[in-house]
Amino acid sequence: MVWFSDYPPLFLLLSSFPLLLFIYSYRRRKISASNRRLPPGPPGWPIFGNMFQLGEMPHRTLTNLREKYGPVVWLQIGAINTMVILSTKAATVFFKNHDHNFADRTITQTMRVHNYDKSSLALAPYGTYWRIMRRLVTVDMLVTKRINDTASVRRRCVDDMLSWVAKEARELEDGRGVHVARFVFLMTFNLLGNLMLSRDLFDPESKDGSEFFTAMMGLMEWGGHPNVTDLFPWLRWLDPQGLKKKMDRDMGIALGIASRFVKERLEEQRDNNSRDFLDVLLEFQNSESQEAHNISNKDLNIFILEIFLAGSETTSSTIEWALTELLCNRECMMKVKKELGSVVGSAREFEESDIDNLPYLQCVVKETFRMHPPIPLLVPRRAIQDTEFMGYDIPKDTQVFVNAWAIGRDPDVWDEPLAFKPERFLGSGTEYKGQHYELIPFGAGRRMCAGVPLAHRVLHLVLGSLLHRFDWELDNRVTPSTMDMKDRLGITMRKFEPLLAVPKLIGS
Ligand code: HEM
Repeated sequence: MVWFSDYPPLFLLLSSFPLLLFIYSYRRRKISASNRRLPPGPPGWPIFGNMFQLGEMPHRTLTNLREKYGPVVWLQIGAINTMVILSTKAATVFFKNHDHNFADRTITQTMRVHNYDKSSLALAPYGTYWRIMRRLVTVDMLVTKRINDTASVRRRCVDDMLSWVAKEARELEDGRGVHVARFVFLMTFNLLGNLMLSRDLFDPESKDGSEFFTAMMGLMEWGGHPNVTDLFPWLRWLDPQGLKKKMDRDMGIALGIASRFVKERLEEQRDNNSRDFLDVLLEFQNSESQEAHNISNKDLNIFILEIFLAGSETTSSTIEWALTELLCNRECMMKVKKELGSVVGSAREFEESDIDNLPYLQCVVKETFRMHPPIPLLVPRRAIQDTEFMGYDIPKDTQVFVNAWAIGRDPDVWDEPLAFKPERFLGSGTEYKGQHYELIPFGAGRRMCAGVPLAHRVLHLVLGSLLHRFDWELDNRVTPSTMDMKDRLGITMRKFEPLLAVPKLIGS
């Protein structure tokens, strides 16, 4: 994504000032010459536009613009025309009436290395390749039957996580908390490794596994970092922050290992009953279907990386926020524990089949998503063509941020938007599956998250298991009133100060 505040190589920009000024005034003349009605927005600086006004937490800064400029705001971020959607009403018009016109993506420079964007499903232009890959995920991989068939894999990974947490807690001084999100992240990584490739990837015994893990951590770091060359394409050749170089290195390592995984699979005799996502992909690639010819080996390798990028941090950040909110709102914690006690009891483990019988747990997840959507501006869309939107003329190629964070706090929709109140969802019928535009942590429309059914299962299983197995307390250096609730934005929005919480094994 394109961020704004910390650009050390400012001198480079300043030294190219005359050239930039020329390009800027040329672009402005081009837009205004067409007499477009653009949405209102704050005035910007020449050349830099609004980039310095957005700060380190743009989802928050943008939310504040609604009061002055209304629910649809126009920004010029460096060279990029940007429209921001800030209310449920505007999001409803966007997704219901104009989803198709905004179905392309903005592609950042770091995502172009090794032609990642050319094989990515999430970044693909809205067209044939996207349609084929999307269908593979939603119809062949993440259908209910296949998800049900892999319940035991998830159970094993969650059990491993519970024992890592218990072990760490035993080793810490009394009153000191464990870094919960780290364990959830490692577990999710292994879980996706098992669903995709039937391997534990976070395995100290496996060299490929740990190299892959380190390289993927790099991709998340560089991919989520603000990059000046996204705002000023004429600086691309310089790569002033070195992000492209680092991304290129880690992407090369990760792709090399992914291709070894695929090669090993092709040489292996597999039992038909234990098909994983890679088997589904290979089967499709080797099928007679005309569409299969569009899928190269490189596409397969990139697809593997994409599932890890899409599914790991998003899950761990949601769990971290859910637990943080419950620890700061003891009544909600008591209610969810009581529900788990009466539905699951203490004689057995929490199972995925319990989820439907736990309405309050589901409300906790929804309320967490409302207040802390892991991708607060969704994955930016891009206008495929000139479009009239709510009376404004939006030019082709405009980047669009749908601010799910602002929409979760929309005062026209939510009572006491700043309070954590899972009860608000009891009996409300509001879901996060793309039909209710007031709650869109997974986006909506054609480009909505393709992983919702899996994410739904995993989030409830992990949160439910952590709460069912342990009683939780805050680390003794923190209280609900001193808890730091700030967030920071990378590839996802994480808690700025990691949650440290003390697990007490129930029944011990
Ligand atoms: C808490 C978990 C998750 C959250 C909050 C989340 C959120 C999102 C969001 C906001 C988008 C962009 C939607 C839009 O443009 O309207 C997206 C896209 C996507 N997500 Fe997720 N995601 C999660 C988990 C997953 C998982 C587990 C997978 C795969 C197994 C996945 C795969 C994808 C893919 C492939 C896309 C691109 C879809 C497209 O462009 O057509 N996500 N996700």
